[in-house]
Amino acid sequence: MAKTEEASGRRMSNKALCGIRACVFDAYGTLFDVASAARCSTADVVETETAGRLAKLWRNKQLQYTWLRAVQNRHADLWQVTGEALDFALETLAMADPALRERLMQGYLALDAYPEAAAALRALREAGIATAILSNGTPAMLSAVVDHAGLGELFDHVLSVEEAGVYKPHAQVYQLACDRLGIPAEAILFVSSNGWDAWAASAFGMRVAWCSRQGLTRERLPGAPDHDIRSLAELPGLLAAPAAI
Ligand code: LAC
Repeated sequence: MAKTEEASGRRMSNKALCGIRACVFDAYGTLFDVASAARCSTADVVETETAGRLAKLWRNKQLQYTWLRAVQNRHADLWQVTGEALDFALETLAMADPALRERLMQGYLALDAYPEAAAALRALREAGIATAILSNGTPAMLSAVVDHAGLGELFDHVLSVEEAGVYKPHAQVYQLACDRLGIPAEAILFVSSNGWDAWAASAFGMRVAWCSRQGLTRERLPGAPDHDIRSLAELPGLLAAPAAI
């Protein structure tokens, strides 16, 4: 067990975050609220509860399809996979409708950024830390969502798995970040709200902050995040923390 443990149950690592040269962020769920597409695009047709069910089913199916395609070595880009997952979710909830589908897909290009994201990114850059996105999204999807949120100037790199031709959590994806940033895994702090992604990046050799906004259950997978945080606002402080806790 880690040396320090807060009363809340949050596990704080005693591993020093020294030598970090870049913060690499997952996009969907970490910087951008994936549920916002369903919330905004269905506001006039369904109740909030149904929009929430749609958002959850859509996201879960999208992730399952990425993992299954990776295992089957049958890659298709995330725009296609997101559409196929949406078709599954809409049919399951008896909501299939071409106009609604189009609105939801367009909504995926205009997701809300989490409110603390911009300030956290700015603080990291002011501290001399490079910033990047490493995401399953296609370059076009990422460019749209980053521009919509006005975050474009706050990233040194926006990296898509399309360059690796396989989805997370394949090691080639995490390697892509090392190659493109030109720094070793241990000099990267990878930040993800997706537990499976956080654990995989840790197993790969990156330092990891798991941004579990709802205090989710820890994964039982290889790897383990160095830090559990509830908000991206905690990041600049983590990197400025003393070398040993
Ligand atoms: C991404 C998904 C996994 O942005 O959230 O890569």
